Amino acid sequence: MEAQIDSLRAEALAEIEGAGDVAAVRVKYLGRAGSITLLSEGMRSVPKEDKARVGKALNALRADVTAALEAREQTIERARDEAALAGIDLTLPGIAPQRGSLHPLTQLLDRAVRIFRRMGFALAEGPDIETEWHCFDALNTPAHHPARNEQDTFYLPDGRLLRTHTSTVQIRTMERHVPPVRIIAPGAAYRRDEVDATHLAQFTQMEGLYVAPDVSLADLKGTLEFFFRELFGAGTNVRFRPHFFPFTEPSFEIDIQTAALGGKWMELAGCGMVDPAVFEAICDRRLDRVYDPEKVSGFAFGFGLDRLAMNLTGIPDIRMLVENDLRFLKQF
Ligand code: DAH
Repeated sequence: MEAQIDSLRAEALAEIEGAGDVAAVRVKYLGRAGSITLLSEGMRSVPKEDKARVGKALNALRADVTAALEAREQTIERARDEAALAGIDLTLPGIAPQRGSLHPLTQLLDRAVRIFRRMGFALAEGPDIETEWHCFDALNTPAHHPARNEQDTFYLPDGRLLRTHTSTVQIRTMERHVPPVRIIAPGAAYRRDEVDATHLAQFTQMEGLYVAPDVSLADLKGTLEFFFRELFGAGTNVRFRPHFFPFTEPSFEIDIQTAALGGKWMELAGCGMVDPAVFEAICDRRLDRVYDPEKVSGFAFGFGLDRLAMNLTGIPDIRMLVENDLRFLKQF
């Protein structure tokens, strides 16, 4: 029996050394019908006085074969790893991921939103594709107004249009929410402008609306002066110049004079007190009187962000904002 153990060990170790399929070899020797298992069954006929010695030798055989199988497995695995990495130099420097940055327009928008949020304005939004009612009628802009002309506005075949301003969000907000409302609405607006160094057919606006009992022109002035001084610095001069917008009465254009914009007066925004006709349109739509112009008042404002971003960063051509040229965008 001990001679058998020794010869089986020699046979097994030799086979394991060159084995490709370690699992099969393990079954062949250690499996339920494996040679070592079968040999162990011979223990029964070993004389009593020899049992301990032979048993020990059998255990040693099993341990040796198990260890050899494990070692072979590791060798095979190591060889597989090395083959997978062949030709790859792990000491070479890696490829650094490219880090993005925020678009200058987004940076300006974020700053503007943050200032208004500090004053309690909530973000609101509406669809880019609008009805004529939301874009014009509800905003007291009559059918003969030039903005409604097909030369100025992108109309869809079904009569809807690409909103020409974000003032539509005033209407969308008042349709759905009862006063007080205090919202800002940044978003895209579209006009059929010839695209050139100072015009885009799609641009970015920010609208604002505050409606509550007893909102006054002083609130409008205070809010917007604060906003522009936060945005451009404490030394900024803000001027309200009487103007006309269909949806506000009285209406103003806002001019700014600030070192950040080269010290020249610049027209930046439109604003005014919400026209009672706008509130009446909302009342008709809502079928209630929560926006009764005798009970609430409000101010609204709107300004474009593209030209502002352009002037703040000294960009000579507004088209650079939409061309996605990395050489340009990486500077911000
Ligand atoms: N919607 C105007 C425009 O696109 C801007 C504007 C002016 C918005 C006066 C207002 C406002 O809310 O009160 O030119």
